[in-house]
Amino acid sequence: MNREQTRAEQGPADRAVAELARTWGAEPDGVWTAPGRVNLIGEHVDYNGGRCLPMALTRVTAAAVRARDDDRVRLASDDPDAEPFEGRLSDLGPGGVTGWAAYAAGVLWALQQAGIEVPGMDLAVSSDVPLGAGLSSSASLECAVGLAAVELAGRPEDPALRQLLVDAAIRAENEVVGAATGGMDQTVAMLAADGAALLIDFRDGSTRPVPLGLAEAGLKLLVIDTRVRHALADGQYGQRRRDCEEAAGILGVSTLGEVTAADVERLTDPRLRARARHVVSEIARVDELVALVRAGRVAECGPLLDASHASLRDDYEVSAVELDTVVAAATAAGALGARMTGGGFGGSAIALVPERAVADVQAAVVAACRERGLTTPVTLAVTSGPAARRLS
Ligand code: GLA
Repeated sequence: MNREQTRAEQGPADRAVAELARTWGAEPDGVWTAPGRVNLIGEHVDYNGGRCLPMALTRVTAAAVRARDDDRVRLASDDPDAEPFEGRLSDLGPGGVTGWAAYAAGVLWALQQAGIEVPGMDLAVSSDVPLGAGLSSSASLECAVGLAAVELAGRPEDPALRQLLVDAAIRAENEVVGAATGGMDQTVAMLAADGAALLIDFRDGSTRPVPLGLAEAGLKLLVIDTRVRHALADGQYGQRRRDCEEAAGILGVSTLGEVTAADVERLTDPRLRARARHVVSEIARVDELVALVRAGRVAECGPLLDASHASLRDDYEVSAVELDTVVAAATAAGALGARMTGGGFGGSAIALVPERAVADVQAAVVAACRERGLTTPVTLAVTSGPAARRLS
């Protein structure tokens, strides 16, 4: 594991250890971390049996944990807005916990449901994955807590255990938090390969690392956080899922991942046709982008990012004025391509940028937002980091 990454994870890890001592008066048995993620392409296709290409970030959530001899579970976060939670192992299921603690408690519940004998524990977390930025701070929290719990339960690390953790984290989010998310975020947090993006195929759940070769091509991947999250995000996400299920039902398939562009044209409802067109065209763009990257042609991927954004904006209708503004400004200032990333309605965009144009793009997105009276975005250049792991 490279030393720079370990140093980057040390900040959240140290803060989690300090929080554990401050709130619960405990010394940790260990510290576990799990990364946030950014999705390169393949948006809103995970719950449609499609393919997507996310990458783990070097930013992580750290969980410092001390196992207990009884069945008590005590959870704390160093986020000043996050209230501590205290309960018993049997209290953690749907309806039992609300707020930030539901992500952590939910995964402990789902692991118990999967037959893991999770011990009682005192736990504290700290994260440098920005909250609400569409970079999967929630999956990173679930996965750090989940990995800690299975190790403290004495389960040895193996690929089957990682998959069980992915499933438990998804269950936590769907059933305890009550967010109908699709599984991309938890999969990459648990299974990412350091130094590569991860191609996830939701037809069978298989994953394959795809090294991007950005540095060799003189390119940077910028994340542009609009620092805005519109209130309608959650309801609209569920509505998009229902639209896709309805369209798949009309076409007589279980997911839209199985249909062709010609099938889509058979949908008579214009809204459902547009939703399905996005899904089918986006899956094709993932395949094209992966083929270009594998051929050493990552610098030619820009137009696919642009097309993905247009499809999410016009057919899937999940963009926002802030996202459209930064995407247009980034492209005008020299990005090879740009798109919104994650669920949409705010959050972040990504831009593929030649190293020499990074400063111009950063200045341009800030200027464009100021001109329109929008919140000033924050830009960070990202590289890929490792999957969830034990840090100490
Ligand atoms: C959110 C969800 C993911 C995925 C994306 C859109 O991040 O958590 O499961 O559906 O939106 O691609």
